[in-house]
Amino acid sequence: MPKFIPEEKIAEIRDAADIVDFISDTVILKKTGRNFIGLCPFHAEKTPSFTVSPEKQIFHCFGCGEGGNVFTFLMKSEGLAFPEALKKVAARCGIQMPARTIGGDRGKNSGERERLLAVNRLALDFFRQNLAHADRSRRARAYLLRRGIDAEAMDRFGVGYAPPGWENLANYLVRRKVAARWGAMCGLLVARKERDGYYDRFRDRIMLPIFDLSGQVVAFGGRVMDDSVPKYLNSPETPVFSKGRTLFNLHRARSKCRQADSVLIVEGYFDLISLVQKGIENVVATLGTALTGDHVQRLKGCTRNMVLVFDGDAAGLQAARRSYAVFANRGVNAKVVVLPAGHDPDSYVRQFGRDGFLRKVETAEGIVTFLIDAAIRRHGDSIAGRVRAVDELMPVLAAIDDRVARSLYLRELAERVGVPEADILQRLRRTPAGKVVGKGGVAGATADGRPAAGWVGSLRIERQIVAMMLHFPEIIPEIRRRGLLDRFQSETLQQAGRLVMESDAPLAARIGELSPDRADEGVLKVLTSLAVADEKWDHNACLRLMDQFDASCRRQQDDLLKQIAAAEERGDQELLFKLLKDRQTQAGGGTT
Ligand code: GTP
Ligand code: MN
Repeated sequence: MPKFIPEEKIAEIRDAADIVDFISDTVILKKTGRNFIGLCPFHAEKTPSFTVSPEKQIFHCFGCGEGGNVFTFLMKSEGLAFPEALKKVAARCGIQMPARTIGGDRGKNSGERERLLAVNRLALDFFRQNLAHADRSRRARAYLLRRGIDAEAMDRFGVGYAPPGWENLANYLVRRKVAARWGAMCGLLVARKERDGYYDRFRDRIMLPIFDLSGQVVAFGGRVMDDSVPKYLNSPETPVFSKGRTLFNLHRARSKCRQADSVLIVEGYFDLISLVQKGIENVVATLGTALTGDHVQRLKGCTRNMVLVFDGDAAGLQAARRSYAVFANRGVNAKVVVLPAGHDPDSYVRQFGRDGFLRKVETAEGIVTFLIDAAIRRHGDSIAGRVRAVDELMPVLAAIDDRVARSLYLRELAERVGVPEADILQRLRRTPAGKVVGKGGVAGATADGRPAAGWVGSLRIERQIVAMMLHFPEIIPEIRRRGLLDRFQSETLQQAGRLVMESDAPLAARIGELSPDRADEGVLKVLTSLAVADEKWDHNACLRLMDQFDASCRRQQDDLLKQIAAAEERGDQELLFKLLKDRQTQAGGGTT
């Protein structure tokens, strides 16, 4: 894990590297003033908005919002994990990595990692031998065949079987001279509480090995063969396995995803096996957790076209809604397809075949379009429903940094709800800061001095407050005194503000020193984008902005009161309840 690379080493490597040098490998950079600019490698553009600051050792794209230091750049452009990026920079700068961390994100030291991998390998052999054993595995084989998994697929996926009984694997490992505590470290054995010794975690389950990118077994998923619970048992997190960074089948799908220039992301192990058996191979599955930014980053190493395939149930829809944040501003083309009610990919491909499934995938909608549709469906077609749908989507639109994309979605939303684009824009841009929201043509009209209200308005002010803290650190004590950050609505900006507030020295020139493995990606991106500009602030401008913020908070409370009155009048209990809850949060000075 990255934690084990000492901070001083990271600093040494970072300081030795020149970000311009690394980026020049893949991007043609032109000097303009103090910075370099070029065409962004993370999104398609014709005029350069990708900026590199040699002084601050950071990059930032004003088009798509990507940004960070030299490590971030390598991670994003080459799909590397942090330690791998570190290694790469170290090698080029002629810096020796400490021996125990060579091998990247691989655990405390390579000895331990090797050991854990070896134990997992032994377990894989054991489970597979058991499945191959005609007598012992009768039930397991029957189950697999009933589910349509043929011998070839069993082989290909390394499917195995953990027999019933408490000490089968434990004994097997002892016979192979493996100390039980290593088995426990892999999560395969569990230490007994009442007496000494260990027992098998996986008993009477179908065993699916989970491989890392180099094709080594790092964990297992075990499924019961009946309706008992839990249906699946997964290996716990270990030094060689993290759910949030691992995807089922990625090591094998990688080249297929590159060839197809797309990846399908499903939720179930069996769904995946079923698709692969039908010849659809550019597919990965999450491990019973939500998709993470790290997953997306890894997939980006193969393709930018990602299609989330969700089961046709409520949980699927919910997951689709949540996954939006993971894709926002990562420069990927994310689409969503929800299967008809009652279907999962497994059942769908069985019923409609490979072509039927692929046709369904063709109908996948862009994730923002999908969210727009879902919001409209959920809130209904009444005027109030449409207003609520628009309100719900404001944060989604506001989170899109790419202006062109944002204005396209804005237009789409306007068309879908049947409200003139200008009215929605109006809603989006009620901001005295005059910051741009929407397409360029309308942007100039935003500085209309009208009072700010709503989510987007305060988001802009919050952003400016963090910028001000960065470029005019003298104001920080005043920010602290007024408790401004506590009233922020955006959690990301709040975290960014805290980072600036808590840093010992002014942070603007040192953003490049924040390592991508230490701070949240969204937070780093915001800070980078704010630091790359050389803004001039003075005390008066700061005071004005803080007053604006206070006023906007007050106004939002007033707005809310008005909405509450209106909802009461209409007798809309559901909305009323929601608004009252919002009010509680606001009054408590809490954040979302
Ligand atoms: P089948 O029911 O055999 O078709 O399984 P599936 O692989 O299609 O899984 P399902 O759609 O039910 O669930 C999707 C994924 O969620 C699974 O592949 C697991 O990764 C995870 N999952 C489901 N149930 C459990 C559980 O009980 N415990 C854990 N840890 N994960 C689960
Ligand atoms: Mn299933």
